[in-house]
Amino acid sequence: MQGQENIKRALEIAAAGGHNVIMIGPPGAGKTMLAKRLPSILPPLTLNEALETTKIHSVAGKVGADATLITTRPYRSPHHTISDVALVGGGGNPQPGEISLSHNGVLFLDELPEFKRTVLEVMRQPMEERRVTISRAKVSIDYPANFMLVASMNPCPCGYYNHPEKECVCGPGVVQRYLSKVSGPLLDRIDLHVEVVPVSFDQMTTLRKNETSDEIRARVVKAREMQSERFKDQKNIYCNAMMPANMVKEICVINDAGRTLLKTAMERLGLSARAYDRILKVSRTIADLAGTPEIKN
Ligand SMILES: Nc1ncnc2c1ncn2[C@@H]1O[C@H](COP(=O)(O)OP(=O)(O)OP(=O)(O)O)[C@@H](O)[C@H]1O
Ligand SMILES: [Mg+2]
Ligand SMILES: [Zn+2]
Repeated sequence: MQGQENIKRALEIAAAGGHNVIMIGPPGAGKTMLAKRLPSILPPLTLNEALETTKIHSVAGKVGADATLITTRPYRSPHHTISDVALVGGGGNPQPGEISLSHNGVLFLDELPEFKRTVLEVMRQPMEERRVTISRAKVSIDYPANFMLVASMNPCPCGYYNHPEKECVCGPGVVQRYLSKVSGPLLDRIDLHVEVVPVSFDQMTTLRKNETSDEIRARVVKAREMQSERFKDQKNIYCNAMMPANMVKEICVINDAGRTLLKTAMERLGLSARAYDRILKVSRTIADLAGTPEIKN
Protein backbone atom coordinates (compact mmCIF):
# COMPACT_ATOMS: atom_id res chain seq x y z
CA MET A 1 0.00 0.00 0.00
CA GLN A 2 1.49 3.26 -1.20
CA GLY A 3 0.67 5.37 1.85
CA GLN A 4 1.64 2.78 4.39
CA GLU A 5 4.99 2.26 2.69
CA ASN A 6 5.58 5.97 3.28
CA ILE A 7 4.82 5.72 6.98
CA LYS A 8 6.89 2.59 7.40
CA ARG A 9 9.87 4.22 5.75
CA ALA A 10 9.44 7.39 7.83
CA LEU A 11 9.27 5.36 11.05
CA GLU A 12 12.39 3.46 10.03
CA ILE A 13 14.29 6.72 9.42
CA ALA A 14 12.97 8.17 12.68
CA ALA A 15 14.04 5.09 14.65
CA ALA A 16 17.47 5.08 13.02
CA GLY A 17 18.32 8.72 13.70
CA GLY A 18 16.08 9.54 16.67
CA HIS A 19 14.01 11.96 14.58
CA ASN A 20 10.51 13.25 15.27
CA VAL A 21 7.77 12.23 12.89
CA ILE A 22 4.15 13.14 12.25
CA MET A 23 1.75 10.98 10.24
CA ILE A 24 -1.13 12.81 8.61
CA GLY A 25 -3.98 10.84 7.07
CA PRO A 26 -7.64 9.86 7.06
CA PRO A 27 -9.32 7.47 9.52
CA GLY A 28 -8.37 3.86 9.05
CA ALA A 29 -5.13 4.53 7.19
CA GLY A 30 -3.17 2.51 9.75
CA LYS A 31 -1.41 5.34 11.60
CA THR A 32 -2.14 4.04 15.08
CA MET A 33 -1.42 0.46 14.11
CA LEU A 34 2.00 1.23 12.62
CA ALA A 35 2.98 3.53 15.48
CA LYS A 36 2.21 0.74 17.93
CA ARG A 37 4.51 -1.56 16.03
CA LEU A 38 7.39 0.90 16.23
CA PRO A 39 9.03 -0.77 19.27
CA SER A 40 9.74 -3.82 17.14
CA ILE A 41 12.22 -1.85 15.03
CA LEU A 42 13.82 0.35 17.70
CA PRO A 43 17.55 -0.10 18.39
CA PRO A 44 18.55 -1.39 21.84
CA LEU A 45 19.61 1.11 24.50
CA THR A 46 23.32 1.67 24.88
CA LEU A 47 24.66 1.27 28.41
CA ASN A 48 24.77 5.04 28.97
CA GLU A 49 21.23 5.46 27.73
CA ALA A 50 20.05 2.57 29.90
CA LEU A 51 21.63 4.15 32.98
CA GLU A 52 20.04 7.54 32.29
CA THR A 53 16.63 6.05 31.61
CA THR A 54 16.73 3.85 34.69
CA LYS A 55 17.71 6.83 36.80
CA ILE A 56 14.76 8.95 35.72
CA HIS A 57 12.32 6.07 36.15
CA SER A 58 13.59 5.46 39.63
CA VAL A 59 13.17 9.16 40.52
CA ALA A 60 9.56 8.75 39.41
CA GLY A 61 9.22 5.69 41.63
CA LYS A 62 8.57 3.52 38.58
CA VAL A 63 11.30 1.02 39.25
CA GLY A 64 10.45 -1.72 41.74
CA ALA A 65 12.47 -2.79 44.77
CA ASP A 66 14.18 -5.46 42.71
CA ALA A 67 15.37 -2.60 40.52
CA THR A 68 17.31 -3.78 37.55
CA LEU A 69 18.57 -1.80 34.62
CA ILE A 70 15.92 -0.77 32.10
CA THR A 71 17.15 -2.22 28.83
CA THR A 72 14.37 -1.56 26.35
CA ARG A 73 13.64 1.89 24.96
CA PRO A 74 10.71 3.52 26.70
CA TYR A 75 7.53 3.81 24.64
CA ARG A 76 4.92 6.06 26.20
CA SER A 77 1.53 6.86 24.72
CA PRO A 78 -0.42 9.17 27.01
CA HIS A 79 -4.10 9.84 26.28
CA HIS A 80 -5.05 13.22 24.85
CA THR A 81 -6.80 14.22 28.07
CA ILE A 82 -3.40 14.38 29.84
CA SER A 83 -2.63 17.51 31.91
CA ASP A 84 0.34 19.83 31.43
CA VAL A 85 1.91 18.61 34.66
CA ALA A 86 1.50 14.93 33.83
CA LEU A 87 3.12 15.53 30.45
CA VAL A 88 6.07 17.77 31.27
CA GLY A 89 6.39 17.10 34.99
CA GLY A 90 5.81 19.14 38.12
CA GLY A 91 3.62 19.09 41.18
CA GLY A 92 4.36 20.00 44.79
CA ASN A 93 7.26 17.61 44.98
CA PRO A 94 8.24 17.93 41.31
CA GLN A 95 7.95 14.61 39.53
CA PRO A 96 9.12 13.76 36.03
CA GLY A 97 6.36 13.81 33.42
CA GLU A 98 5.75 11.65 30.36
CA ILE A 99 8.38 13.55 28.35
CA SER A 100 11.02 12.47 30.87
CA LEU A 101 9.67 8.95 31.26
CA SER A 102 10.17 8.63 27.50
CA HIS A 103 13.77 9.83 27.77
CA ASN A 104 15.86 7.98 25.17
CA GLY A 105 12.68 6.45 23.82
CA VAL A 106 9.43 7.28 22.11
CA LEU A 107 6.59 9.59 23.08
CA PHE A 108 3.60 8.72 20.91
CA LEU A 109 0.87 11.35 20.80
CA ASP A 110 -2.00 9.83 18.85
CA GLU A 111 -4.53 12.35 17.47
CA LEU A 112 -2.28 15.31 18.21
CA PRO A 113 -4.88 18.10 17.70
CA GLU A 114 -7.05 16.54 20.42
CA PHE A 115 -4.46 17.42 23.05
CA LYS A 116 -4.99 20.63 24.99
CA ARG A 117 -3.36 23.63 23.38
CA THR A 118 -1.43 24.38 26.58
CA VAL A 119 -0.03 20.85 26.60
CA LEU A 120 1.30 21.31 23.09
CA GLU A 121 2.78 24.65 24.06
CA VAL A 122 4.62 23.49 27.18
CA MET A 123 6.33 20.74 25.17
CA ARG A 124 8.01 23.16 22.84
CA GLN A 125 10.94 24.28 24.97
CA PRO A 126 11.79 20.78 26.27
CA MET A 127 11.75 19.44 22.71
CA GLU A 128 14.27 22.05 21.72
CA GLU A 129 16.52 21.60 24.74
CA ARG A 130 15.99 17.86 25.27
CA ARG A 131 15.50 18.50 28.95
CA VAL A 132 12.97 20.26 31.10
CA THR A 133 13.32 22.65 33.99
CA ILE A 134 10.54 22.53 36.53
CA SER A 135 10.43 25.57 38.78
CA ARG A 136 8.51 25.75 41.99
CA ALA A 137 8.57 28.41 44.71
CA LYS A 138 11.68 27.04 46.37
CA VAL A 139 13.22 24.59 43.98
CA SER A 140 14.10 24.29 40.35
CA ILE A 141 14.73 20.79 39.05
CA ASP A 142 16.13 19.66 35.73
CA TYR A 143 14.99 16.40 34.21
CA PRO A 144 16.22 14.92 30.94
CA ALA A 145 13.67 14.76 28.12
CA ASN A 146 15.44 13.44 25.07
CA PHE A 147 12.53 11.72 23.41
CA MET A 148 11.54 10.94 19.87
CA LEU A 149 8.10 12.38 19.22
CA VAL A 150 5.78 10.30 17.07
CA ALA A 151 2.46 12.00 16.39
CA SER A 152 -0.57 11.30 14.28
CA MET A 153 -3.41 13.46 13.04
CA ASN A 154 -6.20 13.61 10.51
CA PRO A 155 -5.94 16.34 7.87
CA CYS A 156 -9.17 17.95 9.17
CA PRO A 157 -11.84 17.31 11.85
CA CYS A 158 -13.93 14.99 9.63
CA GLY A 159 -10.77 13.29 8.42
CA TYR A 160 -11.37 13.39 4.69
CA TYR A 161 -9.82 16.64 3.52
CA ASN A 162 -8.09 15.98 0.17
CA HIS A 163 -9.32 12.38 0.17
CA PRO A 164 -9.42 10.74 -3.28
CA GLU A 165 -12.87 9.18 -2.82
CA LYS A 166 -14.67 10.68 0.15
CA GLU A 167 -15.91 14.21 0.58
CA CYS A 168 -14.72 16.46 3.37
CA VAL A 169 -17.71 17.94 5.21
CA CYS A 170 -15.81 20.51 7.26
CA GLY A 171 -17.08 24.06 6.91
CA PRO A 172 -14.94 26.97 5.74
CA GLY A 173 -12.33 28.03 8.26
CA VAL A 174 -12.69 24.80 10.23
CA VAL A 175 -9.71 23.08 8.63
CA GLN A 176 -7.55 26.15 9.11
CA ARG A 177 -8.45 26.42 12.78
CA TYR A 178 -7.80 22.71 13.30
CA LEU A 179 -4.33 22.93 11.77
CA SER A 180 -3.42 26.16 13.54
CA LYS A 181 -3.74 24.40 16.87
CA VAL A 182 -0.68 22.29 16.16
CA SER A 183 1.13 24.30 13.52
CA GLY A 184 2.44 27.12 15.67
CA PRO A 185 3.76 25.18 18.62
CA LEU A 186 4.90 21.92 17.17
CA LEU A 187 4.82 21.25 13.48
CA ASP A 188 7.95 23.22 12.70
CA ARG A 189 9.89 21.17 15.22
CA ILE A 190 9.06 17.86 13.60
CA ASP A 191 11.67 16.47 11.22
CA LEU A 192 9.53 14.16 9.12
CA HIS A 193 6.00 14.82 7.89
CA VAL A 194 4.35 11.88 6.13
CA GLU A 195 1.00 11.82 4.43
CA VAL A 196 -0.93 8.60 4.27
CA VAL A 197 -3.58 7.40 1.88
CA PRO A 198 -6.26 4.92 2.91
CA VAL A 199 -6.03 1.16 2.47
CA SER A 200 -8.72 -0.43 0.37
CA PHE A 201 -9.63 -4.06 0.94
CA ASP A 202 -8.20 -5.02 -2.46
CA GLN A 203 -4.91 -3.37 -1.71
CA MET A 204 -4.73 -4.99 1.68
CA THR A 205 -5.17 -8.49 0.29
CA THR A 206 -2.78 -7.99 -2.61
CA LEU A 207 0.02 -6.61 -0.49
CA ARG A 208 3.35 -7.83 -1.67
CA LYS A 209 5.39 -9.75 0.83
CA ASN A 210 6.54 -7.19 3.36
CA GLU A 211 9.89 -6.99 5.04
CA THR A 212 9.80 -8.30 8.59
CA SER A 213 10.40 -6.05 11.58
CA ASP A 214 13.62 -7.95 12.25
CA GLU A 215 14.96 -7.11 8.80
CA ILE A 216 14.14 -3.42 9.24
CA ARG A 217 15.50 -3.42 12.77
CA ALA A 218 18.82 -4.84 11.59
CA ARG A 219 19.24 -1.82 9.29
CA VAL A 220 18.26 0.54 12.08
CA VAL A 221 20.76 -1.01 14.48
CA LYS A 222 23.56 -0.75 11.92
CA ALA A 223 22.74 2.89 11.25
CA ARG A 224 22.78 3.57 14.99
CA GLU A 225 26.17 1.89 15.29
CA MET A 226 27.57 4.26 12.66
CA GLN A 227 26.23 7.14 14.76
CA SER A 228 27.71 5.78 18.00
CA GLU A 229 31.07 5.68 16.27
CA ARG A 230 30.59 9.19 14.86
CA PHE A 231 29.70 10.69 18.23
CA LYS A 232 31.97 8.58 20.41
CA ASP A 233 33.96 11.61 21.57
CA GLN A 234 30.88 13.75 22.19
CA LYS A 235 29.34 13.61 25.61
CA ASN A 236 25.58 13.05 25.57
CA ILE A 237 25.12 12.85 21.82
CA TYR A 238 23.83 9.47 20.71
CA CYS A 239 22.14 9.98 17.37
CA ASN A 240 21.89 12.31 14.38
CA ALA A 241 18.81 14.11 15.69
CA MET A 242 20.83 15.24 18.72
CA MET A 243 23.62 16.74 16.66
CA PRO A 244 24.21 20.39 17.61
CA ALA A 245 24.08 23.05 14.89
CA ASN A 246 27.84 23.56 14.91
CA MET A 247 28.46 19.93 13.92
CA VAL A 248 25.95 19.78 11.09
CA LYS A 249 28.16 21.50 8.52
CA GLU A 250 31.06 19.21 9.19
CA ILE A 251 29.12 15.95 9.43
CA CYS A 252 26.25 16.36 6.98
CA VAL A 253 28.30 17.16 3.90
CA ILE A 254 26.33 17.37 0.68
CA ASN A 255 27.59 17.77 -2.86
CA ASP A 256 27.07 20.83 -5.08
CA ALA A 257 24.01 19.40 -6.81
CA GLY A 258 22.43 18.60 -3.46
CA ARG A 259 23.18 22.05 -2.14
CA THR A 260 21.60 23.71 -5.18
CA LEU A 261 18.52 21.53 -4.87
CA LEU A 262 18.17 22.29 -1.21
CA LYS A 263 18.71 26.01 -1.74
CA THR A 264 15.93 26.09 -4.34
CA ALA A 265 13.61 24.16 -2.03
CA MET A 266 14.40 26.51 0.84
CA GLU A 267 13.57 29.57 -1.25
CA ARG A 268 10.39 28.14 -2.75
CA LEU A 269 9.07 26.83 0.56
CA GLY A 270 10.42 29.66 2.69
CA LEU A 271 12.21 27.31 5.07
CA SER A 272 14.10 28.50 8.13
CA ALA A 273 17.74 27.84 8.98
CA ARG A 274 16.51 25.38 11.58
CA ALA A 275 14.56 23.49 8.93
CA TYR A 276 17.66 23.45 6.73
CA ASP A 277 19.69 21.79 9.49
CA ARG A 278 16.94 19.30 10.13
CA ILE A 279 16.83 18.27 6.48
CA LEU A 280 20.59 17.71 6.56
CA LYS A 281 20.39 15.57 9.69
CA VAL A 282 17.62 13.44 8.21
CA SER A 283 19.70 13.10 5.03
CA ARG A 284 22.59 11.88 7.14
CA THR A 285 20.34 9.25 8.71
CA ILE A 286 19.12 8.08 5.30
CA ALA A 287 22.75 7.72 4.21
CA ASP A 288 23.53 5.81 7.43
CA LEU A 289 20.64 3.42 6.69
CA ALA A 290 22.09 2.87 3.24
CA GLY A 291 25.52 2.40 4.82
CA THR A 292 27.10 5.09 2.68
CA PRO A 293 29.65 7.64 3.85
CA GLU A 294 28.32 10.39 1.58
CA ILE A 295 24.89 11.93 1.42
CA LYS A 296 23.53 11.44 -2.08
CA ASN A 297 20.58 13.25 -3.64
N1 LIG B 1 -1.81 -3.14 6.18
C1 LIG B 1 -2.78 -3.51 7.02
N2 LIG B 1 -2.99 -4.82 7.25
C2 LIG B 1 -3.96 -5.22 8.10
N3 LIG B 1 -4.78 -4.41 8.78
C3 LIG B 1 -4.63 -3.09 8.59
C4 LIG B 1 -3.63 -2.57 7.71
N4 LIG B 1 -3.71 -1.23 7.76
C5 LIG B 1 -4.70 -0.93 8.60
N5 LIG B 1 -5.27 -2.04 9.11
C6 LIG B 1 -6.40 -2.10 10.07
O1 LIG B 1 -7.22 -0.99 9.79
C7 LIG B 1 -7.78 -0.48 10.99
C8 LIG B 1 -7.53 1.01 11.11
O2 LIG B 1 -6.19 1.26 11.37
P1 LIG B 1 -5.75 2.36 12.41
O3 LIG B 1 -6.63 2.37 13.59
O4 LIG B 1 -4.30 2.21 12.65
O5 LIG B 1 -6.05 3.68 11.56
P2 LIG B 1 -5.73 5.18 11.91
O6 LIG B 1 -4.95 5.71 10.75
O7 LIG B 1 -5.11 5.28 13.23
O8 LIG B 1 -7.16 5.85 11.88
P3 LIG B 1 -7.78 7.04 12.78
O9 LIG B 1 -7.36 8.32 12.10
O10 LIG B 1 -9.24 6.81 12.70
O11 LIG B 1 -7.23 6.88 14.15
C9 LIG B 1 -7.16 -1.25 12.16
O12 LIG B 1 -8.07 -2.19 12.63
C10 LIG B 1 -5.96 -1.92 11.53
O13 LIG B 1 -5.71 -3.14 12.17
MG1 LIG C 1 -5.72 6.09 15.00
ZN1 LIG D 1 -13.04 17.44 6.76
